[in-house]
Amino acid sequence: MSSLTEPVPCQPRPAQPRGLLGIAELDRAEIEQILDRAKSFQPLQNQSFKRVDTLRGKLVVNLFFEASTRTRISFEIAAKRLGADAVSISAAGSSVSKGESLVDTLNTLAAMRPDAIVMRHAASGAPHFLQRHLPIPIVNAGDGTHEHPTQALLDARTILDYKQHLDGLRIAIIGDIAHSRVARSNIHLLGKFGVDLVLCGPAPLLPRELRGMAPGITLTPDMSEAIRNADVIMMLRVQLERQHEAAFPASEYFRFYGLRLEHTSLAKRGAIVMHPGPINRGREIASEVADSQSSVILNQVENGVAVRMAVLERILK
Ligand code: CP
Repeated sequence: MSSLTEPVPCQPRPAQPRGLLGIAELDRAEIEQILDRAKSFQPLQNQSFKRVDTLRGKLVVNLFFEASTRTRISFEIAAKRLGADAVSISAAGSSVSKGESLVDTLNTLAAMRPDAIVMRHAASGAPHFLQRHLPIPIVNAGDGTHEHPTQALLDARTILDYKQHLDGLRIAIIGDIAHSRVARSNIHLLGKFGVDLVLCGPAPLLPRELRGMAPGITLTPDMSEAIRNADVIMMLRVQLERQHEAAFPASEYFRFYGLRLEHTSLAKRGAIVMHPGPINRGREIASEVADSQSSVILNQVENGVAVRMAVLERILK
């Protein structure tokens, strides 16, 4: 028996499980691997039998503390198409509504031995905090204003479906940049591919410090200037739930920052229009643009499944 004075051999710390917390942590090669794998999953969507069973026997838990349609459902479909079991929980219908803390909720779920937890939370950094304490890979499905990594990956997959490469494209991201985790993840991703990135929005929603996030970023409050010669126009949702005081008069927003047909003629021929959804017609985008030939909004949704399959497989296989 060892005495208390004997040196205790160091126990190696278990390696931190590999989840996906943000695009910032991925390098260009890792992003390309995920996008290539997602491309290989795309044809599955059109087959009558839509499953590959590479994750058979695995359990994925989706835990959503904020509302979601696209992300939650597509993670669930992605897990099932890979042969894994998927369970979705929203905070409103769980014991969170009875006052259970975030840590206790996650420990409770961890006791049921899932292989991965997909998590959305209103607090920036919540998934990172939990990843430090849980031995289960966590996938960030959107944390506050910080990151939404799988959205940026599916956006990149969609752009590549139309433009073949990202390097050298001119991409305008327009709207409520300040509160947008979609914008931040896209800035991280596009910055690794030499994109000419223009961020545009009303001054209170366009933080100047974002210019330092990646090379090749310009800022402008002028929507026509942002769109001129763009290959991609990426509109953002106005995040009213994160604006503690109105940053721009709602009645004026569409007039100055809503995308209309006359704007699209300023972009390059063949430019595509994107929006992460949910879209607010008549506030961020006119219906005639959202439903036009240049809109790839539903292609983004479709790619959400393929990209999330690639992400889950990378983490769990
Ligand atoms: N783009 C996106 O995150 O949509 P949901 O909020 O519907 O998941």
